[in-house]
Amino acid sequence: MGETRTLEPASGPFQAGVHTPGDKSLSHRALMFAALADDESEITGLAPGRDVAATLAALERLGLRRNGDRFAPIGVPTDPGSPIDCGNSGTTMRLLAGGLASVPFRLTLAGDESLSARPMGRLVQPLAALGADLTLTADGTAPITTGAADLHGADVAIDVASAQVRSAFELAAIQSIGPSTIDGPGGFRDHTERWLAAFGLAESDGTLTRITPGPIPGARYVLPGDPSSAAYVWASAALVPGARVVTHGVNLNPGRLGFLGILEAMGADVHGEVTGSIHGDPVGTVSVTGANLRPVEVSGDTVAAAIDELPLVAVLGAYAEGITIVRDAAELRMKESDRTQTTATMIRALGGGAEATQDGFEVLGTGFLEGGTVDAAGDHRIAMAGAVAATAAQGAVTIIGAAVAGVSWPSFYETLEAVWSSR
Ligand code: S3P
Repeated sequence: MGETRTLEPASGPFQAGVHTPGDKSLSHRALMFAALADDESEITGLAPGRDVAATLAALERLGLRRNGDRFAPIGVPTDPGSPIDCGNSGTTMRLLAGGLASVPFRLTLAGDESLSARPMGRLVQPLAALGADLTLTADGTAPITTGAADLHGADVAIDVASAQVRSAFELAAIQSIGPSTIDGPGGFRDHTERWLAAFGLAESDGTLTRITPGPIPGARYVLPGDPSSAAYVWASAALVPGARVVTHGVNLNPGRLGFLGILEAMGADVHGEVTGSIHGDPVGTVSVTGANLRPVEVSGDTVAAAIDELPLVAVLGAYAEGITIVRDAAELRMKESDRTQTTATMIRALGGGAEATQDGFEVLGTGFLEGGTVDAAGDHRIAMAGAVAATAAQGAVTIIGAAVAGVSWPSFYETLEAVWSSR
């Protein structure tokens, strides 16, 4: 992905209120829920990036109709004929694989080079238990063929804390005959479970979810900001003693808050306040004030709740004196790039010390980074973490392939530079 972008370090402690784009995880789900609903829905605050555009385009090809903020459900789906392009978006592919398992025809889900290398085999066992008929490549990757199944309830257990796999199962299970359950490790973002519970279709205790089939009602979704996008500006403030950013109206699902706990453990001053909710999922204000950071060790349930923010933990760790360790995070290898490797490579490219490990990475923090050139490796979160590293670097940071940030936050670099010049 093209475009090279150079960021000069921020000068001095900035103070900014930051408007973050709509939550990507909730945007995919709101579109899926609206598509499968039995009446019209209204959605405001959709995430602007290419990932959510892929979900919208896919559902429109099947019959979802959009008029401004209003969405008419698919009803009787249209056979798209040619493969549906999920782009770079794992959430699009996995949610569609489950949510479309019982459409009355076979359809194919394809993705870009990165998505075509990511593991889809993890969908097969839980969805097949419901009677879904999924075909993958021999390597367990996309293209995926799904659809044309008669679904029945099933009780399944999974061994990975994946919100995408659980959501795929649950979106199929609400369309099955008979109740279902899914059990597995906790710590994941339980957005789908909370929304289904709000509509009387699920009960969940954080690991076990019971699904009662039924229609999703038409609903209003006022989507909050994305904590995984806000994390870049929170991290940038955390790096500069006295710098402060405030973000209003961001999603505060417990499965998204691991990074705020890590920031606190590293010594930043973090304040969060819940101010509302969207169908049972909390929303609120977060402020972060920077400090001299300490190294941190991240493991266990915190990993799932901070999974998309772990490249930022490496950046923060480089600016703390001592060893920062992330373990229990083999899932990092399954993301838009192998983030154990690309995160460590990013830190080294900026003059820091870092190594990938089997299930995470280690960073030898010296309290500073020199600056340098980072290859985004086709991964939006590496591009954006590299840009955040420029905040307090000794020299400029250049990102090769910077445009990949448009997957989740098209105006990211402009926003970050505006934050740095706010007083
Ligand atoms: C997501 C779940 C996570 C996360 C991804 C978005 C979601 O993936 O990394 O960016 O919206 O459900 P897994 O569920 O595969 O862990």
